[in-house]
Amino acid sequence: MGRYLKRSGGHGMTLLEIDSVTKEFDGDLTVLRDVSLTVRPGELVWLRGRSGAGKTTLLSLAGLLSSPTHGTVRVDGAEVGTASRAAEVRRSRIGFVFQKPLFLPALSTVDNVMLPSPLPHSEARAAADQLLTRFDVGSRADHRPGLLSGGEAQRVALARALMNDPALVLADEPTAGLDAETAALVRTHLAELAHEQRAVVVASHDDGFADVATRSVTLRNGELTDA
Ligand SMILES: Nc1ncnc2c1ncn2[C@@H]1O[C@H](COP(=O)(O)OP(=O)(O)OP(=O)(O)O)[C@@H](O)[C@H]1O
Ligand SMILES: [Mg+2]
Repeated sequence: MGRYLKRSGGHGMTLLEIDSVTKEFDGDLTVLRDVSLTVRPGELVWLRGRSGAGKTTLLSLAGLLSSPTHGTVRVDGAEVGTASRAAEVRRSRIGFVFQKPLFLPALSTVDNVMLPSPLPHSEARAAADQLLTRFDVGSRADHRPGLLSGGEAQRVALARALMNDPALVLADEPTAGLDAETAALVRTHLAELAHEQRAVVVASHDDGFADVATRSVTLRNGELTDA
């Protein structure tokens, strides 16, 4: 457990700071307008909004997968200027859980989880096994990822996202398509990550996040409001 508690900052620090961000596509479609969002360690922010409201767009900006048209995104205090610096912050500080997790089909499940790790093989394997066990999919380690059920794949994706012990966890519709019980399990796991003093942002249509989120924000007409 100790390794999860080694956060670089204190409790009050801002881990994700999105400041007055606008995102336009193709010069005319403005998806986000002057959006600001600050997330601290220990917070689980539930990002709401109708389909097409811009939730995935905002998560991609937060995860340094794309750049804002205007405004700034800071992760862990540092504005991420260059592409190589962004890649390094992404690798070392950010864990992603995508709606439809993609795995390399030729690798085993555990090898997929280990893939982003800079650790030597045996250490990475031990850490990956520990994470798979934590999310109750340890028995699937040697399976091909294509054989995983939807709920198992989502939990393996959580394990993979945590492999580099990220301070910021971004999850896009992590419970979509899951049965009620498995969805509740995934929500509980995400709440645990916030309790470990990670900063967690979850985009979701799942009202169950009302029970685990520390706060919610809603995207509407390109603007973000507390709600
Ligand atoms: N690369 C892109 N180029 C052009 N338009 C884009 C691009 N990415 C997203 N969009 C548009 O931006 C808007 C917001 O999309 P986004 O995927 O962020 O919505 P969302 O809130 O995640 O929706 P959902 O709940 O359906 O996942 C949509 O109208 C979408 O078509
Ligand atoms: Mg989306």
